[in-house]
Amino acid sequence: MIELDKISKRFRARREEFLALSDIRLRVDDGELACVVGPSGCGKSTIIRIISDIIKPTSGRVKVDGITFDNSAPAPRETIRRMGFVFQIPNLYPWLTVRENIRLPLVVLGLKGRSWLDYADYLIGRADLSDQADLRPQSLSQGMSQRAGVVRAMVHKPDILLMDEPFGALDEGTRERMNLLFLDIWRETGMSVVFITHNIEEAVLLGQRVYVMATGPGRIVESVRVELGEREARTVEGHLFAEYVSRLNGIIGNVELEKTV
Ligand SMILES: Nc1ncnc2c1ncn2[C@@H]1O[C@H](COP(=O)(O)OP(=O)(O)OP(=O)(O)O)[C@@H](O)[C@H]1O
Ligand SMILES: [Mg+2]
Repeated sequence: MIELDKISKRFRARREEFLALSDIRLRVDDGELACVVGPSGCGKSTIIRIISDIIKPTSGRVKVDGITFDNSAPAPRETIRRMGFVFQIPNLYPWLTVRENIRLPLVVLGLKGRSWLDYADYLIGRADLSDQADLRPQSLSQGMSQRAGVVRAMVHKPDILLMDEPFGALDEGTRERMNLLFLDIWRETGMSVVFITHNIEEAVLLGQRVYVMATGPGRIVESVRVELGEREARTVEGHLFAEYVSRLNGIIGNVELEKTV
């Protein structure tokens, strides 16, 4: 569904150029949930911006469901409309109610009719926001706002969801609840997902595949296939879960170590 082929990105800062991403190869199959973990500044957000054609790669190509775009060919509007975005800060409009915020993409994309509004209400219910739907965002807790941000990104039924540390600001327990809720919704909808995080546990819990990144220059150092049974995934303390976490920690630790020698 998504394929990044030898993507590199140079940024210019104060007349100096630097390589933010080097030779990124990443692939997300149809219906797959892929996580990207890596330290601050390794280029995770840049990858999402390149997939959504907000910024152009310096070289390399992006392919989304058979459509290729790069720094000379923009992504067709149709392709962009098939994507949804969730950002670290939900950015809900304070003058709209929660329901109006969630319906906003339908308005912007001209998706009219009862069935779309019903779907918005269905998602509001799934995200446990029915009691808050008519409130304004300022009266929501952080977790509720994050849920509203996730639901808003899905309301136009995208095939692809790009999530940039959506639960980064939450405490551990709340984040775990969000993760499980999101897994349920993902299974129902069958979306292909790129989920960015710097939390290894979150990556293991959610990802069917986890890409591990490093800095200097931003690159993918390893891709790990995660196979957890349903029960295993739901008991985060499980043995297999812990094994994956320690394996990923090991990979990241080795990269850090290499930098010091
Ligand atoms: N528009 C830009 N112009 C210049 N440099 C940029 C631009 N966007 C990002 N960078 C630089 O590229 C590098 C990667 O940034 P990016 O935001 O992708 O990192 P990240 O992995 O998402 O980090 P974090 O975990 O802190 O969100 C950083 O060094 C950043 O300063
Ligand atoms: Mg980022």
